[in-house]
Amino acid sequence: MAENALSGPRGSFLGRLPDRVDVYEVGPRDGLQNELRTLPTRDKARLIDALVAAGEKRIEVTSFVSPRWIPQLADAEELLALVGRREGVVFSALVPNLKGLERARAAGLEEAAVFISASEAHSKKNINKSIAEALAGAREVTAAALQSGMRVRGYLSTVWGCPYEGHVPVERVVDICRQLVDAGIYQLSLGDTIGVGTPRQTEEILGALLAHIPVGKLALHLHDTRGTALANALVGLSAGVTTFDASIGGLGGCPYAPGAAGNLATEDAVFMFQGMGVDTGIDLDRLVEAGEIAQELIGRKLAGKYLQAALGEREKKASRRART
Ligand code: HMG
Ligand code: MG
Repeated sequence: MAENALSGPRGSFLGRLPDRVDVYEVGPRDGLQNELRTLPTRDKARLIDALVAAGEKRIEVTSFVSPRWIPQLADAEELLALVGRREGVVFSALVPNLKGLERARAAGLEEAAVFISASEAHSKKNINKSIAEALAGAREVTAAALQSGMRVRGYLSTVWGCPYEGHVPVERVVDICRQLVDAGIYQLSLGDTIGVGTPRQTEEILGALLAHIPVGKLALHLHDTRGTALANALVGLSAGVTTFDASIGGLGGCPYAPGAAGNLATEDAVFMFQGMGVDTGIDLDRLVEAGEIAQELIGRKLAGKYLQAALGEREKKASRRART
């Protein structure tokens, strides 16, 4: 059969995909910071244990932010002491300033994540600083963290749009990203904080950034408010991005970004990647067990589609068995 624009050779539309990607789990941090109820520290540790048991190797477990701003994560020190260290697993946490870094260092944190916004209004609401002040702070924290032997990751929020200002110019995003990378972070996670991104926009943002920053330095942090996170992740994958932030069961949101719903669900991402032959090193069945634990601890049904499908199938099987 002759090839045409629509049929093409098999697999050619998406281009060559990476053989393997890293999933960076943010459920215990991005997820739990947004829950009204604060989970007891031992429950958080139980969830983290389940994520490790599923094969997750990079987990953002908490934040060393002001407990007045995020009371749900005020037990950061206790939690790190409880989860300890695990062979081959890196636990990281958000660190907003030198005070947070001091706490993180004392708690034995291996990897710090600095975070700033691409829009002035979100920056002010989230960390009470302008973008310029936030960049200076991120530089300061990064330098001090590197000096004490930590790895440093960076986030840029509101890349696809801001809940207060709407459109965010891509030129500003590129400019801030370059400055963050120059500060010494090993990876830059681009945040669709309120889940407004569409695939074409993702292509445009990545296209603009890739002219200045190697793809290996980029990660995508996609909230799934409007159901486009997986589609945007696929664009990233075909552009060669190999780190995707995701949250167990699709937990998540930013308390200082109204309308921010959950992140891309870890199970949905792993299902799609592995189904496309892209290895994640994560066991999907064990991940569902972790999702079930998250639901039980939080006390409501979570949004993750694969999780609900897997639990629904299991329930059907059990009721069939009970009838026979
Ligand atoms: P501030 O009130 O402007 O700071 O907050 P301050 O320096 O004036 O300090 C006020 C008080 O907080 C003082 O205590 C400080 O000691 C204390 P007081 O003297 O009044 O008793 N303090 C701290 N305590 C513990 N740990 C600290 C710390 N720093 C100050 N590290 C600040 C500024 C940055 C601290 C605050 O705004 C804050 O903590 N913000 C964090 C907000 C946050 O965590 N938001 C959610 C995470 S970001 C996100 O979700 C987006 C992301 O997922 C990506 C995406 O989706 O796009 C990453
Ligand atoms: Mg987030």
